[in-house]
Amino acid sequence: MGLVRSMINLSYFLVFLSSFCLEFGHATDTITALNFIKDSETIISNGGRFVLGFFSPTNSTYRYVGIWYRRDSTTRAIWVANRNKPLKTTSGFLTIAEDGNLVVLDGEKTILWSSNVTSSVSNMSARLLDTGNLVLQENNTGLITWESFQHPSDSWLAEMKAGTNATTGKNVRLTSWKSPSDPAVGTFSAGTYSFDLPEAYIWNGSSPHWRSGPWNGMVFIGIPTMNGGYLDGINLVEDKEGSFYFAFDFLNKSAQFHYVLSAEGNVLKAFSINGNYWVVMWSSLMSECDVYGKCGAYGHCNPEDKPICSCLEGFEPKNIEEWNREDWTSGCVRRTPLQCMRLSTGGKDGKKDGFLEVKMMKTPSLANLSSVLEDSCRYRCLEDCSCTAYAYVAGIGCMLWTRDLIDLRKFSSGGVDVYVRLAYSDLDKKEEVLKVIVIVTVVIGMVLVMALCTLFLCQWRAKRKENLVDNMNQDKLQELPIFSLEELASATNNFHQSNKLGQGGFGPVYKGKLLDGQEIAVKRLARSSGQGLEEFMNEVVVISKLQHRNLVRLLGGCVEGEEKLLVYEYMPNKSLDAFLFDPIKQELVDWKKRFNIIEGVGRGLLYLHRDSRLKIIHRDLKASNILLDEELNPKISDFGMARIFGGNEDQANTERIVGTYGYMSPEYAMEGRFSEKSDVFSFGVLLLEIVSGRKNTHFYHDEGTVSLVGLAWKMWNIDNLAALVDPKISRSSFEKEILRCIHVGLLCVQEFAKDRPTVSIVISMLKSEIVDLPYPRQPGFTVNQITSESESSYPNQKVCSINNVTVSMVLGR
Ligand SMILES: *[C@@H]1O[C@H](CO)[C@@H](O)[C@H](O)[C@H]1NC(C)=O
Ligand SMILES: *[C@@H]1O[C@H](CO)[C@@H](O)[C@H](O)[C@H]1NC(C)=O
Ligand SMILES: *[C@@H]1O[C@H](CO)[C@@H](O)[C@H](O)[C@H]1NC(C)=O
Ligand SMILES: *[C@@H]1O[C@H](CO)[C@@H](O)[C@H](O)[C@H]1NC(C)=O
Ligand SMILES: *[C@@H]1O[C@H](CO)[C@@H](O)[C@H](O)[C@H]1NC(C)=O
Ligand SMILES: *[C@@H]1O[C@H](CO)[C@@H](O)[C@H](O)[C@H]1NC(C)=O
Ligand SMILES: *[C@@H]1O[C@H](CO)[C@@H](O)[C@H](O)[C@H]1NC(C)=O
Ligand SMILES: *[C@@H]1O[C@H](CO)[C@@H](O)[C@H](O)[C@H]1NC(C)=O
Repeated sequence: MGLVRSMINLSYFLVFLSSFCLEFGHATDTITALNFIKDSETIISNGGRFVLGFFSPTNSTYRYVGIWYRRDSTTRAIWVANRNKPLKTTSGFLTIAEDGNLVVLDGEKTILWSSNVTSSVSNMSARLLDTGNLVLQENNTGLITWESFQHPSDSWLAEMKAGTNATTGKNVRLTSWKSPSDPAVGTFSAGTYSFDLPEAYIWNGSSPHWRSGPWNGMVFIGIPTMNGGYLDGINLVEDKEGSFYFAFDFLNKSAQFHYVLSAEGNVLKAFSINGNYWVVMWSSLMSECDVYGKCGAYGHCNPEDKPICSCLEGFEPKNIEEWNREDWTSGCVRRTPLQCMRLSTGGKDGKKDGFLEVKMMKTPSLANLSSVLEDSCRYRCLEDCSCTAYAYVAGIGCMLWTRDLIDLRKFSSGGVDVYVRLAYSDLDKKEEVLKVIVIVTVVIGMVLVMALCTLFLCQWRAKRKENLVDNMNQDKLQELPIFSLEELASATNNFHQSNKLGQGGFGPVYKGKLLDGQEIAVKRLARSSGQGLEEFMNEVVVISKLQHRNLVRLLGGCVEGEEKLLVYEYMPNKSLDAFLFDPIKQELVDWKKRFNIIEGVGRGLLYLHRDSRLKIIHRDLKASNILLDEELNPKISDFGMARIFGGNEDQANTERIVGTYGYMSPEYAMEGRFSEKSDVFSFGVLLLEIVSGRKNTHFYHDEGTVSLVGLAWKMWNIDNLAALVDPKISRSSFEKEILRCIHVGLLCVQEFAKDRPTVSIVISMLKSEIVDLPYPRQPGFTVNQITSESESSYPNQKVCSINNVTVSMVLGR
C-alpha cells in the first residue's frame, strides 16, 4: 500500500517536474544516443501536450516507457513501448541503440523493447510530437523510419491513421491492455476491415466482437447516434499511395477526445477539456445487442424486446431447446427452402422467391458491394441463387449478401431497410401480388420511357452517364406520384395569375390546393424552353433521390402533351430574397434567424455534396432558390440545373453555362468548369447577402460601381467589416459572430477554387469549431476585374444582373 502510494506520488512528481522543466526552458522533445533518458526523466512535446517517460500503471510496481497527456494527473499512458516486458526496477533507460533503433534497456543493458526497424543508419533521433506521435528519424535526411502512430497501443488519437498502409501493407490496429494494471497485449484488437465497404471492428482474438456497420461517407451506418462527419470529426481518407484509413481531428483544440480500446473489449470515446479530466462520451458496447452475432444466423436483436432475440419472419430456431434457454448461438433456419428460379426461367405460376422488407436494421456483416443502381439491386439479388438479402443504402449503394445473415439488429431510429430473400410460400401473398403488379408496371413504364427517350432524348442520353439513364428508365417516373394536368389546373385555379408565386429558372411557379386540402407549389415548365425537358428529367431524377430537411420536397410530377409540371411541398414564406431585400420584411429576420438560415443552407449543401456516391452540384444556389417554411427554416430548391457526379469525379466542364451572374464562380462563368467549390462560391455570395441585406448586384459606392463581394474585400482591407453589416442586425452582442460570417464568406468567394474551403469546413468555421480562420486573398470578381473585363467576358452581364434571373448561355462551339 505504501509502495503504491509512493508510486502515485512519483507520477505526480514527474508531472510537476515536467512543468518545471518547461518553464525553465530545459525541456527537450528529442532523444538521441547521447541525450537518453533514465527512469524519473521525461521529454515533453514541443507544444507541451504530451510527455514521454517511465510510469507504473495503477496497482502495479512494474515500470514501463510510455506517452501520456501532460495534464492528465493519472498518467494513463496512451502508448506503451515495453508493454510485454516490464522493467522490474527503476534502473531502466530509453535511448538510441547503435543500430539506430529506439530501445528500452534495463540496468544490465538487456534490450526489453526495440523499434526493430532494420537499419544501419546512425545519427538517429526520436522526437515526441505534439500530436502524441513519437517519430524515429534520421538526422541528416529527416527520413522517418518508425513512428508510434503506426504501432499504436490501445488508444486512437487525432491524426492517427487507422487502416491499411499501402506502402507497408500493414494494417494498423489497436490492441487492448490485459487489464487496467497490465499494459501487456490483451485479447482484443480494433481496426478496420475491408476496403470495399470500410467498417470498424473489434475482435476478440480472431473472432469479431463488435462492428460499426459500413461507412457511408459520413457516418458508420450501424451507429445511429453518430452525427455526421464534421461533428464527430472521423473521416475516411484515401491517399495517393492507395492507403485507406480512418482519421479524426478535433476542431476545437481545447476540447479533445480520443478513443480507447478497454481491456474488456469496449471502445470508449474519452473526452477532455484541456486534458484535465476525462469523460466517456460514447462506448461501442452499450447493450447486449451490440455484441457481434448475439442472436446467431437469421436472428435479430432488439434490446427492447424480451427476450432480446427473435428469428426473422420465415425462419425458426435451429435448436428450439437451446433457443428457449436463451442460448441463441445456433441461430435460425428457413422454414421453406428457396426455389431459386431465375427470372428468365421462372414459370408463369409466380412461384419465384421474393423478399421480406425488414425496416430500421443494422445491416448484416460481410456484404458484397455491387455497382448496380437502386433499381437493379433487387433483381441482381433475385438472379443470384446464393444471394440471401440485399439493401440499397445512400452513400454506399447496392449491398448483397451471399451467406447466412449475421449480426442483424433492430434500431429504434435510423438503420437501414434490409430485404431478406424468402421462398414464395413464406411471403405475405398480398404483398407479392402487389409486387407482381409493380414489376409489370415497371416493365410497361420502361417500354414507355424508352420510347419517349428515343423520341426526345437521344442527344441527351448520349451525353449522360449510362447508369443515370438506366436509372431513370427503369422506374424513376414510376416511383414518383403522377398528377393529372386536370388535377393541377383545378388546384391552381387554372394557373391563375393571382396564384403565381414567382418565376423560377424554367417557368412560373403557382400556389395550389389539392382536393384533400394539401397546399402545393406547382412549377410549370415553359413550353417554349427547348432545354426544358432535359432539366425537367434531371430535376425529377435528382430530387426524387434526395431527402433532407433543408431540401425542398418533390411531391410528384406531371407530363401531358407539351406540359411538364413539378409539384413541391408549399413553403408559406416563399423565398429568402423576399425577406432579405425587402426593407420592411428585413426586420423579421433577426441575426439568430439569419444564422439559422445560413447553417441550414450549409447543411443542405453538405448533404448534396457528400451524402451520396453521386455527388450533386447544385449550380444555381441563390437567395431566390432558398425557400422558407413557417419557422423560416431554409430549404434549397430548384434542382433543374444540378449535376450528378460519379463517385470519383469531382470536377466537370460544360458547354452550357447555366446559373445566375453574381453567384457564379469565375472558373464556371468563364470556362464552364464547375465543382463543389463553385457551389461554395455561390454560398459565399449568399452569406454576404444575408449579413449585409444587399444583393450582389452592382451598386454605387463612393468610388464608382462595385459588387458586394468587391465591397466586402475593400472593407476587409481597411479593417471595417462592420460597415457591411445590415444595420437591422448590427447589434453589438453578436458582432463577433457576424464578422466571422463575413470572413467565412470572403473565404468562400476566393478567386481560385483551391483556395475555397469545402462546405463541411465552412460549417465548422461558422460554428467556431475551427477557431483560426485563414486570411482571405482577393476574391474573384472584385472591382478591378469587373470594370476591366466586363465588356469582353460578360456580354450578358447587364441584362442578367438587373433582373437577377437565371440565365442560360451557350458557349461558342
Ligand atoms: C487497485 O487495487 C484496489 C485494491 O485492491 C482496487 O480496489 C482497485 O480497483 C484496483 N484498481 C485497478 C485499476 O485495478
Ligand atoms: C524484429 O523484426 C524481425 C523481422 O521483422 C522479427 O523476426 C523479430 O522477431 C523482431 N524482433 C523483436 C525483438 O521484436
Ligand atoms: C552524422 O552527423 C554528422 C554531423 O552532422 C556527420 O558528419 C556524419 O557524417 C553523420 N553520419 C552519418 C552516418 O550520416
Ligand atoms: C540529431 O538532431 C537533434 C535535434 O536536431 C540533435 O539534438 C542531435 O544532436 C542530433 N544527433 C546527431 C547524432 O547528430
Ligand atoms: C505508411 O507507412 C509509411 C512508412 O512508415 C509512412 O510514412 C506513411 O505515413 C504511412 N501511411 C499511412 C497512410 O499510414
Ligand atoms: C473472448 O474470447 C474468449 C475465448 O474464446 C472467451 O472465453 C471470452 O468469453 C470472450 N470474451 C468476450 C467478452 O466475449
Ligand atoms: C471549445 O470548447 C470549450 C470546452 O467545451 C468551450 O468552452 C469553448 O467555448 C470552445 N471554443 C470554441 C471557440 O468553440
Ligand atoms: C464477398 O465478400 C466477401 C467478404 O466480404 C469476400 O470474401 C468475397 O470474395 C466476396 N465475393 C465476391 C464475389 O466479391
